[in-house]
Amino acid sequence: MPINWFPGHMNSTRQAIKDRVKAGLDVVIELLDARLPGSSSNPLLAALTTGRPSLKVLNKQDLADPAQTAAWLDFYNAQAHTRAIALDAGEKAPARALIKACRELAPQRGDMHKPLRVLICGIPNVGKSTLINTLVGKRAAKTGDEPGITKIEQKIVLENGFYLFDTPGMMWPRIAIEQSGYHLAASGAIGRNAFDEAEVALELIAVLKRHYPERLQERYGLAELGADDAILEAIGVKRGAKVRGGGVQMHKAAEALLMDFRGGALGRITLETPEEMTAWRRAAAEEEERKAAEREAEKAADKERRSGKRKSSSGDA
Ligand code: G4P
Repeated sequence: MPINWFPGHMNSTRQAIKDRVKAGLDVVIELLDARLPGSSSNPLLAALTTGRPSLKVLNKQDLADPAQTAAWLDFYNAQAHTRAIALDAGEKAPARALIKACRELAPQRGDMHKPLRVLICGIPNVGKSTLINTLVGKRAAKTGDEPGITKIEQKIVLENGFYLFDTPGMMWPRIAIEQSGYHLAASGAIGRNAFDEAEVALELIAVLKRHYPERLQERYGLAELGADDAILEAIGVKRGAKVRGGGVQMHKAAEALLMDFRGGALGRITLETPEEMTAWRRAAAEEEERKAAEREAEKAADKERRSGKRKSSSGDA
């Protein structure tokens, strides 16, 4: 079952970003989760901020597979007007690298007369507050008093001539790629009530079997990897999720696996490769086109039927 996600403040966030673009915007920072650098990227953000240079920050790199992080950095760095860096939000020196990267993306801005205006966005739980706290230290002033700007926007002065605009909330109307929904849920970005944990855990097992089978075997002492649900059951047995009578509470087993993944107990893992993501995006776009064509054909058939009816009833008269 595909995951539906409706984070709060969707419309007000969208409006705040539109207002920021109008008021002046030089660089857009998109904070991504390095374990899912494609799925954690918001397609609407690019649409709302077209033409503005983009800095993709792959956060939580300490939890992600270093070889995959390198591949994703190459993938994003190859895109026009885009730079990508990877960091851990809690570490000061790499966080400061972000300031340098923004200055390089908009070299014509960044003094007191022409301040560099940077928007920071990211899905829930990606580490935005941690990163801002690391960057800000004690010096920064937070204000939200620019005329014409939605109250929810916060302006943070990172250093002279460098303004960071933070817009809480998220706009993400629909998750078009099923795998992305599962990856977002596995990462902890989506509230627990919006998905079935066992279903997400089974998808996670499928990914781990494909890319990191030995991690599953080591962590849960599995001599071999059978069917996905048998693996989840075995995890439940190992983690004491048994019920009286001998069965296993699958949602408890799922919770244990998801907690292990989120906390890094399975090692450094990245759920998706740039190639996979490109193929999923292509398939989703084709599916969209197919559905749109179907809708058009239905509309045309409907019109045809109605005009046929009209003709026959005027013939009856
Ligand atoms: P948000 O504002 O984007 O919603 O995210 P926030 O900074 O609150 O971070 C969400 C969780 O991710 C926090 O953990 C935070 O410590 C963790 N985190 C942020 N950046 C990194 C990183 O680079 N690496 C790792 N490993 N973790 C990171 P938490 O358990 O929810 O809170 P806490 O116990 O750390 O306070």
